[in-house]
Amino acid sequence: MPHLPISPDAPWLAPLAGFSDLPFRLLCRELGAAVAVTEMVSAKGLFYDSRNTRRLLDTHPLDTPLVVQLFGADPDCLHRAAASLAEAGSTHFDLNCGCSVRKVVKTGAGAALLGDPDRLVACAAAMVRAIGPGRVGVKLRLGPKPPARVDLEVAGRLAEAGVAWLTLHPRHASQGFAGTADHEALAAFVAAAPLPVLASGDLMTADDGRRVLTRTGAQGVMYARGALADPRIFTRHAALFPGTAVPPALPPVCTVIRRHAALCREHADDRQALLRMRTAVPRYLRDLPGCRALRARLCRVESWDDLGGIIDEAEALGATPAQSPGEHA
Ligand SMILES: Cc1cc2nc3c(=O)[nH]c(=O)nc-3n(C[C@H](O)[C@H](O)[C@H](O)COP(=O)(O)O)c2cc1C
Repeated sequence: MPHLPISPDAPWLAPLAGFSDLPFRLLCRELGAAVAVTEMVSAKGLFYDSRNTRRLLDTHPLDTPLVVQLFGADPDCLHRAAASLAEAGSTHFDLNCGCSVRKVVKTGAGAALLGDPDRLVACAAAMVRAIGPGRVGVKLRLGPKPPARVDLEVAGRLAEAGVAWLTLHPRHASQGFAGTADHEALAAFVAAAPLPVLASGDLMTADDGRRVLTRTGAQGVMYARGALADPRIFTRHAALFPGTAVPPALPPVCTVIRRHAALCREHADDRQALLRMRTAVPRYLRDLPGCRALRARLCRVESWDDLGGIIDEAEALGATPAQSPGEHA
């Protein structure tokens, strides 16, 4: 059994290359994410491009539970990577079998593993050998291209190898993000898979998360673009699954932006962090009436003071972006 919470009321932050860095993970956790996954990290890069790669692994005592997502196609290399990261304190790993970016696929890694099930299983098994059962997940797409479907026999072999959970983004790798996620295929996979399954794909609001849980029987959800658009998706999710606790209050968007900026300043390289805020803040303010000019200025912002001034102006404009129909605060 996995050591991590996998249940409808424990939403995960997805691996997001270029986005799920330490400040964003901490922000999402404060807003209700139960588990967070790092950006994908090259197993090979840990040994050959260690400075840039290791930066992706920056973490903090509050950044827990954390899943480190690795990509690679060489079981030995993945074993060495997981073992050395485990020695440095990492406790959970995920194997990327869904990335369709050319430079990843041409090395046999990411979605290329979907077309080579023996290698896929060998890679995951090597990671389990490095850290022990219950600590490794595998993130899949439906297959390389239609009509191939992720093989339930592979899911069974992964379970036998000690893999503890699966995530399915039910699109084919050849689709990228085109079309819609095939939640019927996800439901069929969940019904037959011998492991808990996290649902990914087209979960833009907490209501989407609730619907996919109900329609597919998936054990949990993973928010990706929905969290990038508004990390309060986790707070909204909590309000839909209150359990015995009182659902947390939804903070105003400008409070979230200021908090994201503060976490960036505290935990990231200053220049890099400011560049990331240039793209994050316009997303958070996308629905604010009258803030087009502010968004244009945000893309060019050069200092934290400038950023603070623009956030103040957004607040004066009444920045409480419209909620999607049917969404709860
Ligand atoms: C900008 C971006 C970066 C991503 N990076 C990764 C990654 O590093 N590893 C991975 O397995 N998936 C990655 N994904 C895929 C997401 O984790 C998720 O499975 C996908 O976006 C489908 O969910 P959504 O439609 O709710 O966004 C990325 C997606 C986006 C949009």
